[in-house]
Amino acid sequence: MFPIKGSTKIYGVIGNPVQHSLSPVFQNVGISSLGIDAVYIPLEVPKEKFEKTIKGLLFLENLKGFNITVPFKEKILKFADWVSPDVEQIGSANTLKKTSEGKIELYNTDWIGFLNALKEVEDPENKTVLVLGAGGTAKAVIYALKKSKAKKILLWNRTKEKALSLAQKFNITAVDKVEEVLNKVDIIVNTTSVGLKDNDPPLFDYSLIQPHHTVFDVIYKETPLLREAKKKGAKTLDGLRMLLLQGVESFKIWFGVEPPINEMWEALKKAFKERS
Ligand code: ATR
Repeated sequence: MFPIKGSTKIYGVIGNPVQHSLSPVFQNVGISSLGIDAVYIPLEVPKEKFEKTIKGLLFLENLKGFNITVPFKEKILKFADWVSPDVEQIGSANTLKKTSEGKIELYNTDWIGFLNALKEVEDPENKTVLVLGAGGTAKAVIYALKKSKAKKILLWNRTKEKALSLAQKFNITAVDKVEEVLNKVDIIVNTTSVGLKDNDPPLFDYSLIQPHHTVFDVIYKETPLLREAKKKGAKTLDGLRMLLLQGVESFKIWFGVEPPINEMWEALKKAFKERS
């Protein structure tokens, strides 16, 4: 990463808020380890000046790409000259690349990050998976599960109408009560923000989790859901590995090379530990 030169290319992550993003930590480790002349920085975009700010950013000659995080993953679509088939299906993008001709390409790597992280613990092929939540993350998760040939995908959401509309879009099944389907489920994925705070009311009765379950919470910490699942002998996974693996796919899109995943993972775990 250092020294920064006149030729140094700029990459980053746009979002609001973005100061606490851990992406710069591991992306810069990958960049400097491979000796790439680039730097990756957090770029906080004011919500009320989103369009102006993005237009301005895209004019910068040496800015070559960025990740997109909450709340801009859908709003960024209007700036695209080209979107990947994944973006078309999921309806949101987390990776922007400016080509050498200056064209804006948009990709979604959230779904691959999720799937590769899950596969390290359990392959969803032929499994029954229960997805909790029906927001943007749920869309990427359901898309990934469909691609990986899960046997059945069940969807629960606090607001039933949203579950029904997403279930229709992806041709999966919306469920009314989590407790009623738990026996038939192999994998449970929480995509809601419930568990970020320790005193959030639980999404369902966690004491019903069984040892054969795999529980994946996309939040980057040990949530009450994961704690309870561990106690019950279930396999568990939090969102930190998914964060790394979506970033790894973005890295490959920008630089066209395989990044040093283990080094990046160690840096991410260390930074996360220091921050929490
Ligand atoms: P993201 O892009 O991270 O998925 P989002 O699109 O805002 O975020 O979606 C948030 C999800 O968390 C939604 O499914 C939301 O449920 P509603 O559709 O009913 O709003 C869910 N969620 C947030 N707070 C919740 C809570 N306290 N209990 C249950 N679900 C909650």
